[in-house]
Amino acid sequence: MSILFDDTSKTITLHTRRTTYQMQLAPTGHLLHLYYGARSEGCFDYRLLPRDCGFSPNPYELRNDRAWSLDTLPQEYSGALCGDYRLVSVYPVAANGASGADLRHASHRIEPGKYTLDRLPAAFARDGEAETLTVTLRDAATGLRVELLYGVFAEADVIARAVRFTNDGDAPLRLEKAASVCLDLPFGDWELLHFHGRHCMERQPQRTPLMTGIQTVRSTRGMSSHQHNPFVILCDRETTEEHGLCYGVMPLWSGSHQTEVEVDQMGAARLVSGVCEEGFSWTLAPGETFEAPEALLVCTEDGLGDLSRRYHRFIFRNLCRSRFVGKPRPVLLNNWEATYFDFDADKLLALAREAKALGVDLLVLDDGWFGNRCDDNRALGDWFVNEAKLPGGLDPVIDAVNALGLKFGIWIEPEMVSEDSDLFRAHPDWALTVPNRAPTMGRNQLVLDMGRAEVVEYLYGVFSALLREHRIEYVKWDMNRSLSDVYSAALPPERQGEAAFRYVLGMYDLLRRLTEDFPDVRFEGCAGGGGRFDAGMLAFVPQIWCSDDSDAAERLTIQRGTSYGYPAASMGAHVSACPNHQTGRTVPLGTRAVAAMSGTFGYELDPARLTDAEKDEIRAQIRRFRALDALLQGGDYHRLAANERFTAWAIAAPDGSEALVSVVVTHTEANPRPLHLRLRGLDPDADYVLAEQAFFGCALPPGAESPGGADPARRYGGAQLLCGGWTLPALYGDYPSVQLHFKRV
Ligand code: GLA
Repeated sequence: MSILFDDTSKTITLHTRRTTYQMQLAPTGHLLHLYYGARSEGCFDYRLLPRDCGFSPNPYELRNDRAWSLDTLPQEYSGALCGDYRLVSVYPVAANGASGADLRHASHRIEPGKYTLDRLPAAFARDGEAETLTVTLRDAATGLRVELLYGVFAEADVIARAVRFTNDGDAPLRLEKAASVCLDLPFGDWELLHFHGRHCMERQPQRTPLMTGIQTVRSTRGMSSHQHNPFVILCDRETTEEHGLCYGVMPLWSGSHQTEVEVDQMGAARLVSGVCEEGFSWTLAPGETFEAPEALLVCTEDGLGDLSRRYHRFIFRNLCRSRFVGKPRPVLLNNWEATYFDFDADKLLALAREAKALGVDLLVLDDGWFGNRCDDNRALGDWFVNEAKLPGGLDPVIDAVNALGLKFGIWIEPEMVSEDSDLFRAHPDWALTVPNRAPTMGRNQLVLDMGRAEVVEYLYGVFSALLREHRIEYVKWDMNRSLSDVYSAALPPERQGEAAFRYVLGMYDLLRRLTEDFPDVRFEGCAGGGGRFDAGMLAFVPQIWCSDDSDAAERLTIQRGTSYGYPAASMGAHVSACPNHQTGRTVPLGTRAVAAMSGTFGYELDPARLTDAEKDEIRAQIRRFRALDALLQGGDYHRLAANERFTAWAIAAPDGSEALVSVVVTHTEANPRPLHLRLRGLDPDADYVLAEQAFFGCALPPGAESPGGADPARRYGGAQLLCGGWTLPALYGDYPSVQLHFKRV
């Protein structure tokens, strides 16, 4: 049993293999949060020393006990307007105008298995590995019932949380805030690590000490966004990659989100995370229910690297439902950076022939194949083939591609519509626009009101026909603007605050139906690169295009930042042409492959422009990728170094049988200082050889025949390598790299 109720201490304790989470029913019925940390037995209420701190009010029945206040005690899920002045988790407003929530325990139950959610993505259990706790709280004044759901995955050390709200009253009730998680940490010296960025530079880690007061990370863009990823980490000030306490909060939510962290008057921290409050409200008619998105919690004492690896394993084992997880990955060639909009059937087939000769498995036809889509100003919504570019439709191209022995994939952007499209002309009210206001345009396109069932139904009809009628084995699902003008012509005035949330629900409905009905199609998520790289999307798709910045040097930092929460094998990454189209930089072809290999791997260039030597190199890259694919997908990811001279990471088999260490030199020095790395992921008790030592893009100093390096015949002890690390020979040139493949003997 991983969930225990102790009637004497009135505690509910959630145990995972290495962590413990505890709450307590106070005599008032309030639910106090007692502990979340390393696994431990016993009741943690001894840590709470209620004290009258002044100006912190008391519940009515404890009015003679001025020490007991919701304002100073840690709460499991904070209410509102009832004497806790810190961050609110839920804000209901009743029909009579009464608002706030005084949440009192009504019941709780413990059940085998993992709870499910109605329309939202949720983690799932395999073979009875999870248990569920449901704690029901009620607010008498508004009639709101709050069910706190906890899915405890003991072996994985993950606790999934979600919240279900029901209106038990007999008049409508409005939720103005409905957070997924409240986490009170009464003691500690915390820092917030979050992942910010912009288009073409997503998920840059920023670690800041908490200030007294409130810090907020949020997106109001209707998408999880390039600017602020919903995943955050709270860590102790001393926490490093390998040591120290940290907590991860990973929402399964792809829309506007917010995470607030407050340090209160007593130095206690509270994190509240969920759907973004701005613009959100939800009306519950009597008996109706609203579910707030799930979030995955991980806590570890073993540093940020361990936290990341727990998420990586969990996402592929317990979240992503795609049958492609763990399967050998096709090497693709995408035509976007090769042709942009300027292609026709002949050009595509020429690309396909070149791709086949390189050893590629799959040709992906990107934007521009439909309607009058000659540029990015028109035709989104007109999902019929452009016969001027592709005479006779898709099938002749697909047949010819297949005849070459390649699979065929396609780009779609279902959620959008161009003003200049037949779809918009037929259904102008299907776009999100505010009456009497000219809509804001993004990439000169509008956003469909995915909250409307008929829109989703229409899109399902269009895209299910596309996938049914043509041999399409891969879909890149794009989304190329932030939401604005969020007003739904289908909702009454008092429900307009639901439009952005309903948008995401509708998008998930379409994605779920298409991925379930076409399980043999590999789907890749995308939103102008990595604008919607989140765990909500990863519940449906095994991979997401990580960034529109395909420069390998920049990808090092983007993919590294992404790795804090998300598995390397989920990051869409391609080798593209140089000078790079986004930065103008030139990185050696071999180093470009090193960066792409720690993602999904593929190509985004015109092979006809390659030299014969480059083609040979690509053939060799593809052979290496195939040989390494199982390790790259199944291995544990270790961030080894990122400094002003080099970036290094390792992917190591969980059983210690092998590890692939990749190092890219980002700043080459004259008379260089030794490049020394620590190694991780090896078995200290095993012996290893360096089975492969591959250098890429290294300029050789005059007179040298190779960069030098280790003796392949020599054996090393695992402990020796872990303790002593590894020293590389001097690597010259621009962005040289090396991959070291250690194998157990
Ligand atoms: C987005 C994607 C790109 C490409 C273009 C096509 O920007 O991220 O990879 O598909 O759209 O318009």
